[in-house]
Amino acid sequence: MSETERTPLIAGNWKMNGSAAMAEALVDAIAAGRSDSAAEVLVIPPFPYIDRLSRRAAKGGLQLGAQDLSVHASGAFTGEVSGPMLVDVGAGYVLVGHSERREMHAESDAVVAAKFEAARAAGLKPVLCVGESRQQREAGETEAVTRAQVEAVVDRCGAGALADAVIAYEPVWAIGTGLVATPEQAQGVHAFLRARVAEHDATIAGRIRILYGGSMKPQNAAELLACEDIDGGLIGGASLSADDFLAVIAAAG
Ligand code: 13P
Repeated sequence: MSETERTPLIAGNWKMNGSAAMAEALVDAIAAGRSDSAAEVLVIPPFPYIDRLSRRAAKGGLQLGAQDLSVHASGAFTGEVSGPMLVDVGAGYVLVGHSERREMHAESDAVVAAKFEAARAAGLKPVLCVGESRQQREAGETEAVTRAQVEAVVDRCGAGALADAVIAYEPVWAIGTGLVATPEQAQGVHAFLRARVAEHDATIAGRIRILYGGSMKPQNAAELLACEDIDGGLIGGASLSADDFLAVIAAAG
């Protein structure tokens, strides 16, 4: 399947930023400004704002996602938010294994795989985040690390579980640092990841969207998105500005 048959997905991960007022204004501005873009657009606000944004997002043709979920569906897990709750308030997607969760909350590949499973069980589309640290890249471990991150999910959920999922390649050294992978570096890892999926299921590999994340912004989006195996972006900092996010959406076509 050629690249043109994969609808680009441009996702904005707001991380722990904003306010209710900012969230509403940002969604309205994105909805109004995306006009004739063919890309699917996903906004991923902090948990407390998902509910209040769900109508606005739906009206504006935007998808809504969450940044994390519990491995459990309900119970005595203070502070956790479950997949069914996210569906209840209007989320359709959820990030699993963002590097900030892996690093700061010690989420192992096994925990991430359990979250991937929990997301699917709730009817959410998981966005599996993978990526290597600077140290791992310098040690030549990029492929081993990202492969293990994908395989942990396949081992637990089966390759078929990737059918309605998204993969996001986010080199940790490029997140929030202003450093960005070159199109060649990013395309190389994306092609590697697609080939790993193809080892299990060629049809899913042809269809699955693999997003790039790591200091993507208007100045570099077009050349990254032009790469054959880059099917969209997972944008942090630049997704907090409607103008910048809209420029990235426009670069996706
Ligand atoms: P930045 O775009 O701020 O580098 O963040 C990327 C990211 O982590 C998105 O999930």
